[in-house]
Amino acid sequence: MKIGIIGAGNIGGSLTRRLRALGHDVSVANSRGPHTLTALAEETGATPVHATEAARGAEVVVVTIPLKNIPDLPSGLFDEAAEDAVVVDTNNYYPKERDGRIAEIEDGLPESRWTERHLGRPVVKAFNGTYADDIVERPRPVGDPERIAFPVAGDDPRAKRVVRDLMEEMGFDTVDAGGLDESWRQQPDTPVYGLRGDVEQVRKALAAASPERPAAFRA
Ligand SMILES: NC(=O)c1ccc[n+]([C@@H]2O[C@H](COP(=O)([O-])OP(=O)(O)OC[C@H]3O[C@@H](n4cnc5c(N)ncnc54)[C@H](OP(=O)(O)O)[C@@H]3O)[C@@H](O)[C@H]2O)c1
Repeated sequence: MKIGIIGAGNIGGSLTRRLRALGHDVSVANSRGPHTLTALAEETGATPVHATEAARGAEVVVVTIPLKNIPDLPSGLFDEAAEDAVVVDTNNYYPKERDGRIAEIEDGLPESRWTERHLGRPVVKAFNGTYADDIVERPRPVGDPERIAFPVAGDDPRAKRVVRDLMEEMGFDTVDAGGLDESWRQQPDTPVYGLRGDVEQVRKALAAASPERPAAFRA
């Protein structure tokens, strides 16, 4: 699969490593330019590109950068992506430590809805509660008792299926966490956030979530 990854930090780096290990064709971008990604490219065989090129021809585009930087992404980011390209959003709102106050999110807009509006493309929310290292260190085959599961939220069933199939190929089970309006169930500080659980535990954690934004994650 041709996959573009925008963001080459903890999560972008781990996704690049895991997806390359499975033989996918990965282009990866950061904010400073491809010349700063030579080590990752040499290690993994991924193609370092400018952010404007990351989505070119891609079937899946992962946006994995600090939430506050989403509005800085260039417009037309997805112009050269495949027509039905699926956009994955791994991002979280950390108002105190990193992102500052974002009024719409403080007022209750799910974080991924905010991101989707800025990107101008529907997104599938995935990996946002996953420890970056687990992506390379904890993949397990289907049926392994240690295989962990991650929630996936999104409005388009096809897009969600594409992402779930990819995650399952990567060595993780997945749980359908509903549409994006329900995606607060997997935001920071919810029971499922950072959970290393199986499908049943993830389902229970999603069901136990409260729509109230926790104080630690308010500006
Ligand atoms: N760390 C985790 O374990 C974890 C887990 C789940 C979800 N998340 C979420 O996933 C997102 C990424 O987290 P992270 O820990 O991977 O972040 P990170 O290590 O800080 O890396 C951020 C990456 O985004 C790039 N970037 C920033 N602004 C950009 C722009 N305008 N255009 C292109 N690239 C840009 C940075 O490039 P430069 O270095 O060149 O600036 C860097 O490669 C965050 O929203 C985070 O909350 C993180």
